[in-house]
Amino acid sequence: MTALAIAAAAEVGPGEVKSVQVRLGPVPEVIGPPEEQGPPGTAAIVVAHTQGGEWFAMGDVCSHGPVLLSEGEFDGCTLECWGHGSRFDLATGVPENLPANRPVATYPVAIEDGQIVIQIGPDGDPDGGE
Ligand code: FES
Repeated sequence: MTALAIAAAAEVGPGEVKSVQVRLGPVPEVIGPPEEQGPPGTAAIVVAHTQGGEWFAMGDVCSHGPVLLSEGEFDGCTLECWGHGSRFDLATGVPENLPANRPVATYPVAIEDGQIVIQIGPDGDPDGGE
């Protein structure tokens, strides 16, 4: 796994999310704002800061269709897809209700030196695995 700084923690207050497009590979890199259907070898990743002070990171594209979860409702522990209403658990990436029935990737996240840092595998693997 590789550490990747997503943004300054100060940019994302409690109850807020931030999403970026990441170029995957051995040296991942933030390349800009998220895209529903980004180029091959990239992934949209959203970080979420709960009102309780926890941080989560997961894939930002709904597993049911090309919709950015970061554009949906953030209710504290889930992001709701505005496409058809599936709610994704930020901790697990698992949808709590249909129509989405497959999880999105999740990533370990920590605040280091004021930066939101995730751990990600070279292929953007779920849970940072390789
Ligand atoms: S596109 Fe997200 S639930 Fe259908």
